Amino acid sequence: MYRIAVLPGDGIGVEIVPEAIKALQAVGKKCGHQYQFTEALIGGAAYDAVGHPLPAATLEICRQSDAVLLGAIGGPQWDDLPVHLRPEVGALLPLRKELGLYANLRPCLLFPGLLQASTLKEEIITGVDLIVIRELTGGLYFGAKSREKTLDGGEKATDILSYSTYEIERIVRFAYKVARQRRRQLCSVDKANVLESSRLWRETVTRLASEYPEVETTHMYVDNCSMQLIRYPRQFDVIVTENMFGDILTDEASMLTGSIGMLPSASIGGQVGLYEPSHGSAPDIAGQKKANPLATILSAAMMLRYSFELESEACLIEAAVRQVMADGYRTPDLMEEGKTLVDTVQMGDLVQEMIMKN
Ligand code: IPM
Ligand code: MG
Repeated sequence: MYRIAVLPGDGIGVEIVPEAIKALQAVGKKCGHQYQFTEALIGGAAYDAVGHPLPAATLEICRQSDAVLLGAIGGPQWDDLPVHLRPEVGALLPLRKELGLYANLRPCLLFPGLLQASTLKEEIITGVDLIVIRELTGGLYFGAKSREKTLDGGEKATDILSYSTYEIERIVRFAYKVARQRRRQLCSVDKANVLESSRLWRETVTRLASEYPEVETTHMYVDNCSMQLIRYPRQFDVIVTENMFGDILTDEASMLTGSIGMLPSASIGGQVGLYEPSHGSAPDIAGQKKANPLATILSAAMMLRYSFELESEACLIEAAVRQVMADGYRTPDLMEEGKTLVDTVQMGDLVQEMIMKN
């Protein structure tokens, strides 16, 4: 029995999470696994209900689970709350920190039939298969923040960016292990020409590289990496980078897959893994059944793989998504001529049926 905490959150979160649950249930039925789903409040929905975006009860439910499935959080109605009550800073970041989720995995895999959906040329994205490993509990996101008044009547705002050897080693070793199981190329991304934290990052990677001789290690500045990702993305296998660079690069990399609606994510490193789509709560399309549930469904596949070590079950979901795409079904974000338009629930149904059928 796998215990899964379910946190739908805000916006399209409440629409896409049930579709991922359907996929998990189909796999369970087919392969004889059982789950216990426990739903809990997070984000703006939690703030509205109980006055805090990450209620203690939610954190406890997550801690008592084997894995967490999260939809999305945030929305314009909560943007003006005091910072510590806003869904992003008040819920998502502390959740990552509290659960010790230092490694965020965002794989960019191309699905058949999506080549034309990308804003990039087909010949650029054909054959792309990369994964970004983003450090998730350090750096600017978690450094001390302050504001002070200045003599000229203005203000000064500060965010501290620091990384310790321990934090860097931990994520880099993790990335080497992933690279060893893939094409054995690790590209470490930093800004060592300017930032001290990046110089420690690069020195640490260089030192560890000798322990993993079977993996080819390269270094790249983050500005160059953002350019290389759209110039020649096939050059990448595994990218490892710090928190903020990883946040930015993964939004960019999502366009290699055709839509950010296709990019799953797994956050691991602690006792309990967290699985969520890389996209946000999309308030503009919330409640209209237009959201693409596939990133969340693919995140559920990552849960099977990384939290439960059910590799073939994970592949079952991924294969079903691939087949449904190949059959020409599309949510509005990926719709193009000659394809069949479906809504969020229909897409979930299609994947569920495909899992049962395969
Ligand atoms: C992400 C998101 C979050 C982040 C936001 C919502 C705080 O952009 O998971 O990439 O910056 O980490
Ligand atoms: Mg982001």
